[in-house]
Amino acid sequence: MKMWIALVLAALAAGASAQSCSCETMKWATCDGTPCSCSLMVGDNVKQTLNCNELIPKCFLMKGEMYRAKKGQDTRSVGGKPEESAFVDNDGIYDPECENDGKFKAKQCNNTEECWCVNSAGVRRTDKGDKNIKCEKLVETFWVRLQLTHKEVTKPVNAALLKSAIAEAINKRYKNFNKDLVEKIEYDPDARMVVVDVKKPKGERKSDLAHMAYYMEKDVKVLPLFKNQEKFEPTVEGQKLEMENILVYYVDEDPPTFTMKHLSGGIIAVIVVVVLAVVAGLLVLFFARRRQSQQYNKAQQREMEAM
Ligand SMILES: *[C@@H]1O[C@H](CO)[C@@H](O)[C@H](O)[C@H]1NC(C)=O
Repeated sequence: MKMWIALVLAALAAGASAQSCSCETMKWATCDGTPCSCSLMVGDNVKQTLNCNELIPKCFLMKGEMYRAKKGQDTRSVGGKPEESAFVDNDGIYDPECENDGKFKAKQCNNTEECWCVNSAGVRRTDKGDKNIKCEKLVETFWVRLQLTHKEVTKPVNAALLKSAIAEAINKRYKNFNKDLVEKIEYDPDARMVVVDVKKPKGERKSDLAHMAYYMEKDVKVLPLFKNQEKFEPTVEGQKLEMENILVYYVDEDPPTFTMKHLSGGIIAVIVVVVLAVVAGLLVLFFARRRQSQQYNKAQQREMEAM
């Protein structure tokens, strides 16, 4: 009898420890060993060791995703809805160069001759150039705007409670993300749209907005990156808000340096019209002045003749 209990206990302990050797913040990680250590394949025979107690740096995640895509592996989890598009539909994905601590290198080339500078969220903030492009430093994203839509709900959402509900959900889900950084929420009940501004003081380097935003983008757009596939669902007055769309805007500590090349046709047309109007105005002024001075000269001449 005693032996049985001991055996059962041993089996339970073994089960528990096997289970605990997994990566909560990255479903594609492989973990083994005692002490448990987890890593992610980011290239042929290249493994990135992960700290699964925290959100995984976006740069490592992007590398891992590019690798999976290259291998033709699913970048979502099994059982995902077939109509949900895979991540390759998200533009802006490339094979990034990461620092040892998971930060993006300021200059990125996607394994090509064409390079550009990125912000701390790995998002391009300059024109594309050649390999000699200079990226002085990695410019920090200090503000992200998350524009989300929630699915239809039965009860109207109490907008006054939405901010704390969202801050709470973000804090819980994204590894104690500082909820004070959830600065402002705007809500449009008709469009079911929630706009969340997450902002930190310029110069603050403790919180990383990019990691949180990337996990949330995946939570809403595709499937969670977490091992646990529960949805991101802020709860307002007992009602869960399931999210279905997300758009992320990035604001950097220094403004980006895109040039006119990237202005849309509409804006260029407006600029051309304004410039033409100004030139026309100047020409009118110029000719008006000239006529005035000619008349003045003639008058002078007549006076001279009279004398
Ligand atoms: C990076 O390269 C991959 C092919 O290796 C391509 O699919 C992707 O669109 C590129 N991304 C960018 C931002 O250039």
